[in-house]
Amino acid sequence: MSVMNYFDYSATTPLSKSVNQLMQEVETSYYANINAKHDFGVQSKAFVQSYIESMASALSIPVSSLIFTSGATESNNMILFGLAKSYPNKKHIITTSLEHHSMISPCGELQRQGYEIEFIPYSQGQLDLNALKGMIREDTLCVSVIAVESETGLLHPLKAIKAICNERQVPLHSDMTQAIGKVKVDFNDVNYASFSSHKIYGPKGIGACCLFKDDIKPLILGGRSLSKLRAGTPPNALIVGFAQSCIDAIQSLVQRVHEVEQLRNVFISECANIEQLHVNQPKVGVPHILNVSLVKCDRHEVVRLLSLEQCYVSASSACSGQENVSKAVLTITQNMDYATSSIRISLSHLTTKDEIASLIKALKKVTL
Ligand SMILES: Cc1ncc(COP(=O)(O)O)c(C=O)c1O
Repeated sequence: MSVMNYFDYSATTPLSKSVNQLMQEVETSYYANINAKHDFGVQSKAFVQSYIESMASALSIPVSSLIFTSGATESNNMILFGLAKSYPNKKHIITTSLEHHSMISPCGELQRQGYEIEFIPYSQGQLDLNALKGMIREDTLCVSVIAVESETGLLHPLKAIKAICNERQVPLHSDMTQAIGKVKVDFNDVNYASFSSHKIYGPKGIGACCLFKDDIKPLILGGRSLSKLRAGTPPNALIVGFAQSCIDAIQSLVQRVHEVEQLRNVFISECANIEQLHVNQPKVGVPHILNVSLVKCDRHEVVRLLSLEQCYVSASSACSGQENVSKAVLTITQNMDYATSSIRISLSHLTTKDEIASLIKALKKVTL
């Protein structure tokens, strides 16, 4: 591809060059089944295990809490259905209306099976935690709250939510896919977490669950793996690649965030010169997700027109399809015009000032 201005890092990121090299090394030198008893199996296991340990240490979590899956979609499914399997009498789930489809769809499936799914209301763009206090019941299976909402970057107050859950002895799960490597995360704030490698410059096809409670029943049964909770031959290169991208993301978090904040400030100040453009800013948000509305423009058409200018943004999160109204933008702005004309621009430390200039130019052209 020739010129490309990529602003869709929240949908997925390119694989880091050094991680790619490391994965090649694993594929050529440490590819043995790590459950094999011969020396090559033992060496491969030691190599993979050393990366898992470093990843757990970078995340400040015990190695035993880390379960590898195929991605955050599987992690979310595993936690929700695995909990449902463990506690068949608890048929009430509390979540938010702004979860990713990989939580919404499993919740929908459980609802069809007779579960009651309740959404914590928002008040002025923020979760109403007083309402949450009144919602927890004896039969509540879990509370699940996405850490960073994918379309607007709204940051949810996990610590305060965990305090409420602790009081009522209900476990808290969080989908941390848009948070890890983008904002400082404290795993003490949750009982279960999910995240994915391809959002942090790691390979696609691998993610993780962090389970800080030992009560989830496995969904995938079969041959020996790294954990009894998820059967299947461990994918050595994917695990090592994911682990290294995670270590890199945590170690360079402060620097990456600083770079993204600077780019964001440049973008926002330039936006002031585009009359039709409104920045949809949550009260508390992360810097790498920017959401703007081009008032009176159809958001899908804006994405198409920007694409013709080689600027790649998205109308919403990549998985939410062709929805005409952004629930997330409506929640934080309470403005239907903004919610029907919003686009997501997601930034990275790899974004350049020239790319920002190209985007501003393209936005001006689209709004003419
Ligand atoms: C918040 C959130 N959760 C879950 C997912 C699904 O992740 P994966 O692609 O690893 O299954 C995504 C990816 O778009 C996401 O943004």
